[in-house]
Amino acid sequence: MTEQSDLFSAPAPADQAQPAIKIKALRDQLNHWAHQYYVLDEPTVPDAEYDRVFRELQALEAAHPDLVTPDSPTQRVIGAVMEGLASVRHAVPMLSIHTETDTEATGAQAFDARVRRELGLSESDPAIEYVAEPKFDGLAMSLRYENGRLVQAATRGDGEVGEDVTHNIRTIRQIPLTLPGGVPPLLEVRGEVYMRRADFDALNERQREQGGKTFVNPRNAAAGAVRQLDSGITAQRPLSFFAYGLGAITPPGDGGPVFRTHYEMLQTLKLWGFPVAAQVQIAVGATELVAFHQRVGASRDALPYDIDGVVYKVNSLQLQRDLGFKTREPRWAVAHKYPAQEMATKIEGIDVQVGRTGKITPVARLAPVFVGGVTVTNATLHNLFEIRKKGVRVGDTVIVRRAGDVIPEVVGVMPGKRTGYVPNFRMPAACPVCGSDVVREKGEANHRCTGGLFCAAQRKEAILHFAARRAMDIEGLGDKLVDQLVDANVIRTLPDLYRLGLTSLIALERMAEKSAQNVLAALEKSKQTTLPRFLFGLGLRHVGEATAKDLARHFGTLDAIMDASVEQLLEVNDVGPVVAQSLHTFFQQPHNREVVEQLRACGVTWPEGPVAERAPQILAGKTVVLTGTLPTLSRDAAKDMLEAAGAKVAGSVSKKTSYVVAGAEAGSKLAKAEELGVPVLDEVGMLALLSGTGA
Ligand code: IVH
Repeated sequence: MTEQSDLFSAPAPADQAQPAIKIKALRDQLNHWAHQYYVLDEPTVPDAEYDRVFRELQALEAAHPDLVTPDSPTQRVIGAVMEGLASVRHAVPMLSIHTETDTEATGAQAFDARVRRELGLSESDPAIEYVAEPKFDGLAMSLRYENGRLVQAATRGDGEVGEDVTHNIRTIRQIPLTLPGGVPPLLEVRGEVYMRRADFDALNERQREQGGKTFVNPRNAAAGAVRQLDSGITAQRPLSFFAYGLGAITPPGDGGPVFRTHYEMLQTLKLWGFPVAAQVQIAVGATELVAFHQRVGASRDALPYDIDGVVYKVNSLQLQRDLGFKTREPRWAVAHKYPAQEMATKIEGIDVQVGRTGKITPVARLAPVFVGGVTVTNATLHNLFEIRKKGVRVGDTVIVRRAGDVIPEVVGVMPGKRTGYVPNFRMPAACPVCGSDVVREKGEANHRCTGGLFCAAQRKEAILHFAARRAMDIEGLGDKLVDQLVDANVIRTLPDLYRLGLTSLIALERMAEKSAQNVLAALEKSKQTTLPRFLFGLGLRHVGEATAKDLARHFGTLDAIMDASVEQLLEVNDVGPVVAQSLHTFFQQPHNREVVEQLRACGVTWPEGPVAERAPQILAGKTVVLTGTLPTLSRDAAKDMLEAAGAKVAGSVSKKTSYVVAGAEAGSKLAKAEELGVPVLDEVGMLALLSGTGA
């Protein structure tokens, strides 16, 4: 330290200076990791390491409370309970966008034509450059940073005055509390707070289990979470954020940045630590707008969040200024919609369905309705409590939601449409399929049929599950055939499958001798299997493929698994008390052991032996996506090989994807990989990778 600094800045006492420096270092480290994890979707350290450093910071701050500042990563949930939300006048109004409800290509063409007309361009003038973005279905937010610190978050409100929700927005991990050096002293970032579908489903599932209020859709859940008075509640409802614009910012005259295009501004926001959607791209002219609308529309179901359209914005900020506004809407932007994911229709009846585990699900039979791009005639009502809570009755006009690849569901009743008295729906006391008692266990929201494998519905599902591709892989044993076999009482238990003869098969309607022979051949082939496939095929509650693999790896033989105590089962990777207990109970039942013995007696066999050495996990932590048809390997074989090497095999391509393995006729996933710069391999490349000689 120089003499001068001794004079000018009184040094902190030694025991203060050290913790302050240490605290800063820990915060920087945590912020860096959090940005990689939450914003870039690219975790670089194990969660345990993050937690360890987080706790170290917490302990230091607890010992030095005077060093705690609101922008510390420990201060995201401060448990602030407000009495009401204060009003905030926006420094720059938050505008809305003109909505183009023509969901066809003509919607985009009309916008481009309007922009060109208003700019006075003729046909010979060059095409306009736009930025095309998804239209996120959440709620607009304005984030105000002063000197690189988040000081205020406000909802849109009426565009002029919104509500102060800073305490809640601080809980969103994707929103930085501090910004890197070099950002303008005043910066307002505008964007959308939303809830990812998976987070929404998990939240509703949790609420349903606890008998709490469920949310109609991710947007409502997000809006409710943002407007909580208690930020502790918001913190339990995981929210996400995408930036798409600016509010007030230090002007260039005062040293603020000069942006020439909207795209350049978005890229800068990304550098400053804000999440910007990967789909955002430049589109030139109406043709590229149309292509974007179609491409994003085709991948809409696969996106992890809801969108209700796309937004086109003129890229040049000078042209934006030239175009200006019409009342509250900019002339340089438009929202181009997709068909709605929620529609109203009438309930014509309520049936119940019996699932593989006996769960009885009430299903609404609907007047056909076009929603989320398909015609829907059935929608789940989940369980009796959901029906009661929503007050659904036959004849009601309800709102049906179909988003993503999920089963359509009834989310609510349109008020005031009921005419006359309709009795409440009642759960049947007996299973509609087998007549066994229907019960609801204490603390459970679901009703179940007690018939077990005596119940034809459960038997059918159990057989289909056993025969499934990733279980015993019995080709040709589909639901039509299983229906016939169970209804004709030819098959009562799983081993009966292997006792099928040509005569009983040909006796079935529409079964030619050739197909019967194929089924028998497939059954014969399936007898040579693996322990994980067999275990998974038994369809034990809570035992998915991954758990079946873990069990097989840990114990090596089926007998060891069947004889294991709960304690021994708990030693298996990822097996918790619920799974251990359910496995133990299953194999304690003589009739279940009998099924296993009979299957073995029929010739079902797999290699057994001492616990297999785990293959070297050379792809641990990597995510791989398979697409198209590989020249020699089946999709499943490739998946098994990748998983054995520790890779996670995912269904869709994102920035997180480590490799895409593409075969013939690879489509949008390959295109997406190329767009994101994800390495693409063919089968040979994949094999090289697995052998440790590849990329
Ligand atoms: S830009 C001047 N971009 O849609 C334009 N808005 O009425 C200001 N929204 O409530 C908004 N995705 O919350 C813009 N990529 C996007 C958007 C988007 C969703 C919402 C926004 C606002 C509404 C526009």
